[in-house]
Amino acid sequence: MAQMRQDSLNQKTDEKVSTTIDHAIPAVMKNITCVEDLRQIARRKVPRAFFGYAESGSYSGETLRANRADMEGIRLRQRVLVDVSRRDTSTTILGERASLPLALAPIGMAGLQWGDGEILACRAAHAAGIPYTLGTLSICSIEDVAGAVDKPFWFQLYVMKDRGFARALIERAAAADCSALVLTVDLQVLGQRHADIKNGLSVPPSLKLKNLMDMATKPGWVYRVLTGKRWTFGNLAGRLEGKEAVTALAEWIAHQFDPTLNWKDVEWVRSVWPGKLIIKGILDHEDAKSAAKTGAEAIVVSNHGGRQLDGAASTISMLPRVVEAVGSDIEVMFDGGIRSGQDVMRAIALGAKSCLVGRAYIYGLGAGGQAGVATAIEIIRKELDVTMALTGVNSIREIDRCVLVN
Ligand SMILES: Cc1cc2nc3c(=O)[nH]c(=O)nc-3n(C[C@H](O)[C@H](O)[C@H](O)COP(=O)(O)O)c2cc1C
Repeated sequence: MAQMRQDSLNQKTDEKVSTTIDHAIPAVMKNITCVEDLRQIARRKVPRAFFGYAESGSYSGETLRANRADMEGIRLRQRVLVDVSRRDTSTTILGERASLPLALAPIGMAGLQWGDGEILACRAAHAAGIPYTLGTLSICSIEDVAGAVDKPFWFQLYVMKDRGFARALIERAAAADCSALVLTVDLQVLGQRHADIKNGLSVPPSLKLKNLMDMATKPGWVYRVLTGKRWTFGNLAGRLEGKEAVTALAEWIAHQFDPTLNWKDVEWVRSVWPGKLIIKGILDHEDAKSAAKTGAEAIVVSNHGGRQLDGAASTISMLPRVVEAVGSDIEVMFDGGIRSGQDVMRAIALGAKSCLVGRAYIYGLGAGGQAGVATAIEIIRKELDVTMALTGVNSIREIDRCVLVN
């Protein structure tokens, strides 16, 4: 393990990023005012198959829509004549200082939204002073990202049937100095996304001619992906002898999700991962109580962005029950449907300590690479700051149900 850690440190290049927090929206993104603008640009720049992959929910999309509808249904309380001149959006996440109560969520195949997407998103997060989570099913590998950034990131783990692979990933994450392991537990089987099947992102994958033609109309995307470090699942390199194609690996992955996954596996992960552990994909208060007993440092209240159990409740509607069930036993994070700083305020008001965003930054990535992700984060930061002012609070600590109507 020590040798692996040394190797990973040796891989660090001179591609250093600024560690100061940059509060400016990059010049190329000046006319972008909200996350929806980024989404519209990403829709034009990213091939239909991969934009559809990012956009869609499972089955009829009820839970995907509920995440947004229930969020929008929460009314903020307008307060006036409070001195709000000392506003500070910073907080701590798992004991570490963060400029915002926000982290970037793990997103599979982010490197197919924009070449080297994982490295660029990680750099944007670090420049903004917030954590980044690299997914198991990323295009850039753990070592690719560790070699291209100068601060630790979080690594998300799927415990697959092949436990040797899971253990190897944990060891690689430790060797790369990842500062937390995010164990995703809501993908014991794969929810169906109609768009992926229609676009050929199915098992086995078969990109349709119309999709290939669509890619040909996006030369910028093609160039960036082809000149990126990889085009296939980086963490799986060398896993299937002689098979590096995204199609072969995607098929292997689809058969590797493990329906036997249970609390004993969480115990096992806890025993082999030496660092901070976050359990992601908790929606029910009973599961939250069980998670709090595992020795994990945090949970993420999540329904996988409406991509797994369709018909499940929205995350924002379940958050208060989870918070009440676990009290201060474990740190509660939240994701699902966050598209603005107002949404971050709503989740913090209902008891989350911090939030993760998925699509909000993936739209930024597809729209403009690192600058696009930086813009997404900066938009959310500004919105949160103004929302704090208009609800009469100066610090994240002060945000509670008092900022909500009823
Ligand atoms: C395109 C896409 C890919 C995702 N891939 C993963 C993944 O590999 N691992 C994981 O734990 N969650 C994954 N998620 C779920 C996100 O981490 C997060 O829970 C979700 O996006 C939050 O909802 P939001 O997109 O509304 O912010 C993915 C979500 C999207 C949209």
